[in-house]
Amino acid sequence: MTASAEDFLRRFHDQRPEAQSGLSLSGPVVGDGRKSYDVLADRVAGARRVLDLGCGDGLLLETLAGRGAELLAGIDLSSGELEACRRRPALADADLRQGRAQELPFADGSFDAVVSHMALMLMADVPSIAAEVARVLAPGGTFAVAVGAGPLDAAEVFLSFARPMFDKVPKERQAPQTGDPRTRRRDGLDELLAPAGFGPVSWDTLVLDLGGPADEVWQRCRDTYYPVSTLDDAQLAELRAAFEASTRELLTEDGRLPSGAKMSLAVTRLRS
Ligand SMILES: C[S@@+](CC[C@H](N)C(=O)[O-])C[C@H]1O[C@@H](n2cnc3c(N)ncnc32)[C@H](O)[C@@H]1O
Repeated sequence: MTASAEDFLRRFHDQRPEAQSGLSLSGPVVGDGRKSYDVLADRVAGARRVLDLGCGDGLLLETLAGRGAELLAGIDLSSGELEACRRRPALADADLRQGRAQELPFADGSFDAVVSHMALMLMADVPSIAAEVARVLAPGGTFAVAVGAGPLDAAEVFLSFARPMFDKVPKERQAPQTGDPRTRRRDGLDELLAPAGFGPVSWDTLVLDLGGPADEVWQRCRDTYYPVSTLDDAQLAELRAAFEASTRELLTEDGRLPSGAKMSLAVTRLRS
């Protein structure tokens, strides 16, 4: 199951590098105006050596580079995402590796902080990841993660139509279950991280504004939810028609469709 879930994620991201950071995860945080990448980067302000788990196309690493982190490293399953990372001039010197967060190819104690944006909740065997993060962190180092916490407005409507369609996809083509649901809860994350030597996490929930013109919101929803890639053209057309009909009443006078997502931010320190 783990291998097939990782194969699915690798294929998905190889085919669509940059789709998620570019559109679906890039909305401003409500009441703050910055992107969630900036908010997460602030939680490790001052860290000189930083590793990003599931770094995708490198937007978080680029953000960290802009704040003066000197040694940046990233790991991701997808070579397509890593190629996109390498195209960012700010990451010319970053140590970017294709691999699994469960087996980190880095030396003991080599980072002041480890971060992960919208990726830990997709990963299997989190106790092994916690042990690896504890190994590569220096004593007292910080582990800061952002995990998805649910859709809002048009995104919620989208999923209410999409979920029953995902279930109708023939079993052999369905998207595999990914991740450990405990990573999306404060007590669950504490349970997973404490045995590796981490203190209790701090926990904040942010709301991302992912609204916009209806076409853009539709595209965002398509890119965000992995099982959409298992639908055929006829199912996608049916989903789009149902989405458009049911969100028409949500459109504002200036033609904007409200949509969003909640995101939880957890930060903990390795006990020295
Ligand atoms: C939703 S994307 C987020 C990418 C990036 N962090 C961002 O927020 O823009 C999740 C990323 O995690 C990677 N990933 C998933 N499981 C992984 C694992 N076990 N080890 C390393 N990377 C993994 C995927 O390949 C994908 O690039």
